[in-house]
Amino acid sequence: MGECSRPEISIVVPTYNEAQVIGAFLDKVREELDKHTKCYEIVIVDDDSPDGTWRIVEEESRKDPRVRLVRRTGERGLATAVIRGIREARSSLVIVMDADLQHPPEVIPDIVRKAREGYDIVVASRYAKGGGVEGWSRARLAISMISSIVSKILVREARKTSDPMSGFFLVRKEAVRLEDLRPRGYKILLEILAKSPGARVADVPYTFKRRAAGDSKLGLRVMADFILHLIALSRLARFAIVGGIGALLNLGVMYLLLPIAGVDASSIAGIEAGILWNFILHEEWTFKSKFAKGVAKRLIGYHVSSLAGIASTYIVMRLLYTLAGVNPVLGQAIGIIVGFIANYTLSSGVVWRGAKAKTL
Ligand code: GDD
Ligand code: MN
Repeated sequence: MGECSRPEISIVVPTYNEAQVIGAFLDKVREELDKHTKCYEIVIVDDDSPDGTWRIVEEESRKDPRVRLVRRTGERGLATAVIRGIREARSSLVIVMDADLQHPPEVIPDIVRKAREGYDIVVASRYAKGGGVEGWSRARLAISMISSIVSKILVREARKTSDPMSGFFLVRKEAVRLEDLRPRGYKILLEILAKSPGARVADVPYTFKRRAAGDSKLGLRVMADFILHLIALSRLARFAIVGGIGALLNLGVMYLLLPIAGVDASSIAGIEAGILWNFILHEEWTFKSKFAKGVAKRLIGYHVSSLAGIASTYIVMRLLYTLAGVNPVLGQAIGIIVGFIANYTLSSGVVWRGAKAKTL
């Protein structure tokens, strides 16, 4: 019954416990696609769902060879399932969408049209003009929009779309290097965008529907995964975490030494403790990559580039203490914040310049 030698379009669908909706989903998607082409495939990647989703798909694939089942046993996860599906896909144009009909199949033709215009990644977006969400509480909408803004601040490539957290998108297979992807959690599009810097990206608006049946698997665990994912993708986030702990170390050392060493010596000792901590962690974690220069040079370079931060920390502390009688540890804390901005600019621009943003 093979209608064509190579499908024009592959639809990849991760499923876990979707027995209640998978039948309706397959019918609706085929009905939509049939209007445009007979030459497509639907690849369902099911993680051995206890509710037997895979059994329904298997049955369907016997009747209709355009439906393919990939049943994974011993492995679970939305992001890895999507990558597996993209690998299995036989077309170069691959659409990823959910099985629960929250991603309306009527949008597929718009997505394909954009891809044919030459875009490598086409995102079905809730936040593009004309898009939206159905029946979300203000709280859920706020969380979603904030996550999206944070990911755009931290991940440059995410700025190419209005909805980097979408689970409904198309990729041109040649444009993404699947072997570079480090999938985790739910946000597979974010990962693909981050690892495909040359890709041309376009948005197509859609309305995220209510779930027809069954439950969302998105929970606290998914939120935690998302934060870890952003840290892995963002040098700036790692820099801020290391610097934040370094600042606390700086202040702790100063606080302990203040009674015995006095204001100036304890301030400098705190600053140096913070610098050494920052250096070791930036070296091993933040900027982890193959470096051209040697470690001694970088340690000296880091001190030099931190001079602005060292000076502002010390000077701000001294001024606040001498002129306004501000507690020196509090003054140092304010000085650290002033110094942080200068420090990041110099570190990424000078010391670790050229360190490719290799992620964890
Ligand atoms: N294979 C596999 N393994 N599939 C999974 C797993 C898993 O561990 N967890 C979830 N899925 C499947 C579900 O069966 C469904 O088809 C799809 O992934 C989305 O899961 P939901 O639990 O319905 O997610 P959601 O509705 O809360 O969020 C979705 O929409 C958002 C907006 O587009 C996801 O696609 C999010 O990534 C997306 O941000
Ligand atoms: Mn859903």
